[in-house]
Amino acid sequence: MRHTQGPMSQSKSQKTAVILLAAGLGKRMFSSLPKVLIPVCGRPMIFHILDRVQEVLPGSRVAIVVGHQKELVIQRVREEGYSKLNIEFIHQVEQHGTGHAVKCVMDTDWGKVAVAEKENCLILPGDLPLITSELIHEITLPLIRGSALRLLTAVMRDPFGYGRILRKGKSGPVIRITEEKDATLREKLIQEVGLSIYLFQPGFLSVGVKNLKNKNAQQEFYLTDLIEMAAKKKRTIETLTWAREEDVRGINNPYELSQVCDNLNERMLKQHALKGVRFLNLKSVRIEPSVKIGTDVTVYPDVILEGKTEIGSGVTLGAQVYLKNCVVGKNSEIKKGTIAEDSIIENDVKLGPYAHLRPESKVGAHSKIGNFVELKKTTVGEHTSIAHLSYLGDAEVGSRVNIGCGFVTCNFDGRLIDGQRKHKTTIEDEVFVGSDCQTVAPVILRRGSYIASGSTITEEVKEGELSIARSRQVHKPGYATKLKEQK
Ligand code: UD1
Ligand code: CA
Repeated sequence: MRHTQGPMSQSKSQKTAVILLAAGLGKRMFSSLPKVLIPVCGRPMIFHILDRVQEVLPGSRVAIVVGHQKELVIQRVREEGYSKLNIEFIHQVEQHGTGHAVKCVMDTDWGKVAVAEKENCLILPGDLPLITSELIHEITLPLIRGSALRLLTAVMRDPFGYGRILRKGKSGPVIRITEEKDATLREKLIQEVGLSIYLFQPGFLSVGVKNLKNKNAQQEFYLTDLIEMAAKKKRTIETLTWAREEDVRGINNPYELSQVCDNLNERMLKQHALKGVRFLNLKSVRIEPSVKIGTDVTVYPDVILEGKTEIGSGVTLGAQVYLKNCVVGKNSEIKKGTIAEDSIIENDVKLGPYAHLRPESKVGAHSKIGNFVELKKTTVGEHTSIAHLSYLGDAEVGSRVNIGCGFVTCNFDGRLIDGQRKHKTTIEDEVFVGSDCQTVAPVILRRGSYIASGSTITEEVKEGELSIARSRQVHKPGYATKLKEQK
């Protein structure tokens, strides 16, 4: 995976503190969100990075440089917790470049502590969300005595936009990094790039950022200029060259964002596939990193799984199934085109095709919710069948209930009563509802009752009762024949 330069002898344990650069506007993203909060596969960019930092460097001090919409960034990071990290936010009032951002940190007490405590400073940009734990582990290994820094590089098929690594000779020591906007045509051909990931010896860093100049195309203080500074002072620059390009792809525009999302998705699919999920068409499936899947699961094409979704073992997910924040029990079968959100589906359930579970619904074990059935805030017991063309909202349905085709809980009367617009329907265990019935809520169908087809039920039906609520059939012998003769 890596290739290091320099003697392999390393001093024993060294502490690491982290500086995360997150003050930039991200103008090229055209988003109202600050760049680091833009979601990558459903999770803000910066969280992907902090997740990895927390994994590899628990207990470490982390300075997050904030500027654009800092209140929002601070709020979202605080909400997320990160209780194992010691996070401090440092305000970069005006954004004068990556070197200036780091100077803002090193000038504060945070920076002074890093120097006094000899904490190596790991610099991470806020826009490389696919960095792996392995990468953080390797870049933060102890620095060789006398090193100014360790620099992460990668060879990119398309290096456009990245700082290019200039070496002495073809593969000698690094002497400088040149930014895209400052590079000569010849330099632009270089495919080895810097990624804004470094491990700095803290003394070198804190003095170095004070001496940066902004004489360049963007009139910014470039952190990359510290490389030339170290080289000129004959300090050792260790390099770590990362072979897996997709781990270190930056996001500078919406196109790169979608490429990075694709890469992360691919990584997720691979992990699941290696743990026993069978994908019938890998390329078409989207699975967010927050999703958990058991073994022996089959996933048909075009499935999308989002949020805190958990899929039990032995489940089959048909084509075009979309689940968000759903728990699916073992051996359940979710057929084509089913959509479910914030719902619980227990073991051995059959859903769909084209069922729709809206938030706060729950389907008990061995139940069946068939085609074109919509549930909203509805609980269904075990061994119950609602097989065709029905709507149940704000309802509680018991176990071993059978609901025929075309049933509707009329839960909304257009008025606001006691702050509630929707009324509740209760259908107790073992009720049988014939086809084409409606219940007008609030209403209760007691245990074991039987509703005849075509009924509109407005009043409580008692235990064991049969209720018919439709007009009687009238017969007029010979009338049809008479009508035909008239024509
Ligand atoms: C930077 C590097 C470039 C490298 C690339 C890799 C410099 C000068 N260039 O370029 O060599 O190949 O990253 O991704 O370092 N930021 C601040 N304050 C600022 C400016 C930036 O906090 O004043 C933050 C941004 O929010 C971002 C990170 O620093 O998270 C990198 O900034 P960005 O503008 O994306 O730098 P690049 O042009 O990509
Ligand atoms: Ca960038």
